[in-house]
Amino acid sequence: MVKTTISVIKADVGSIAGHGLVHPAILKKCEEILKKAKEEELLIDYYITNCGDDTELIMTHKNGEENEEIHKLAWHAFTEGTQVAKELKLYGAGQDLLSDTFSGNIKGMGPGVAEMEFKERPSDPVVIFACDKTEPGAFNMPLFKMFADPFTTAGLVIDPSLHNGFNFEIFDVMEHKKVTMSCPDEMYDLVALLGTISRYVIKRIWRRDDNEIAASVSTERLNLMAGKYVGKDDPVAIVRSQSGFPAAGEVVEPFAFPHLVGGWMRGSHNGPLMPVAHKNAYPVRFDGPPRIMAMGFQIAEGKLIGPADMFDDPAYDRSRALASEIAEYMRRHGPFEPHRLPADEMEYTTLPGVLEKLKGRFEDID
Ligand code: F6R
Ligand code: MG
Ligand code: MG
Repeated sequence: MVKTTISVIKADVGSIAGHGLVHPAILKKCEEILKKAKEEELLIDYYITNCGDDTELIMTHKNGEENEEIHKLAWHAFTEGTQVAKELKLYGAGQDLLSDTFSGNIKGMGPGVAEMEFKERPSDPVVIFACDKTEPGAFNMPLFKMFADPFTTAGLVIDPSLHNGFNFEIFDVMEHKKVTMSCPDEMYDLVALLGTISRYVIKRIWRRDDNEIAASVSTERLNLMAGKYVGKDDPVAIVRSQSGFPAAGEVVEPFAFPHLVGGWMRGSHNGPLMPVAHKNAYPVRFDGPPRIMAMGFQIAEGKLIGPADMFDDPAYDRSRALASEIAEYMRRHGPFEPHRLPADEMEYTTLPGVLEKLKGRFEDID
């Protein structure tokens, strides 16, 4: 049986009122391009949306991961979207496209990529997350909870098909190295890495029993690639659920706690990750606080059935209220740590440009 591939490729190619909201004209242009690709049978199906100023292309096909044609299609949609953004003088037009030409694989060129290929089960529910104003490490804690914490995922304790645990692939985004760790056996070592959210990030998760893919995250760190601040990486993730994976409700449960993540204003501040419906995926206050939305799909012979807007649920109202309260508390620190990111993280922002001027002013302390 031919496997189905889901490719979620995203980029910020321009938005309205600053780094706020994708303009419908960009989404329309992407729609034209992906519609044609579907008619030509390169894609089985697609869904286009945005989280804040990021345009997300959710595509299904039979070509496997890292496929040149699929990546080229996404690149084409983003460059055409950039043209639209330029015509409308949208803010940050083409911001995430680090090159003028496509070179075979979109990875390393600016856009974020999360992909997975699998043989469809009789029914295959998938949750796709999209964030704005944060970075890939924002998924560390929630994914750990989903796939390793019995207080979040009851199935780890109760259901024999999850009971053997999951393998986590971790990327060291500073050293460009990776390691795979087995949970629950190596849980403490795993957490020792995952706690450093700016450096160690979860790339993939597999079920230990049969090595079946369970989750995939975009781990591109735009600022590390460009060597300077060009916006945060606003990650996406694909998570499979039910029948041997965490249930849909277990997949979204970790986001009830709005944990602190790096990002927000100028990519330079810690703030709570607020779970929101698509209509509220527009970070306004102080360009934030960081947002996450969750789209629930059923995959049917490659077709994307859905999405269900999963955080459009009053049961998350308290999480949002808590996130607002934390946002208020953090904001009161102004430009001081720990609201502002620590010094090593500020290296990739515009702060070094300011500090450079002060260099000559320092004298030795005797
Ligand atoms: C954060 C973000 C915004 C901008 C801020 C300043 O990821 O995109 O908070 O950093 O609006 O933008 P510029 O420097 O373009 O005026
Ligand atoms: Mg932007
Ligand atoms: Mg963004």
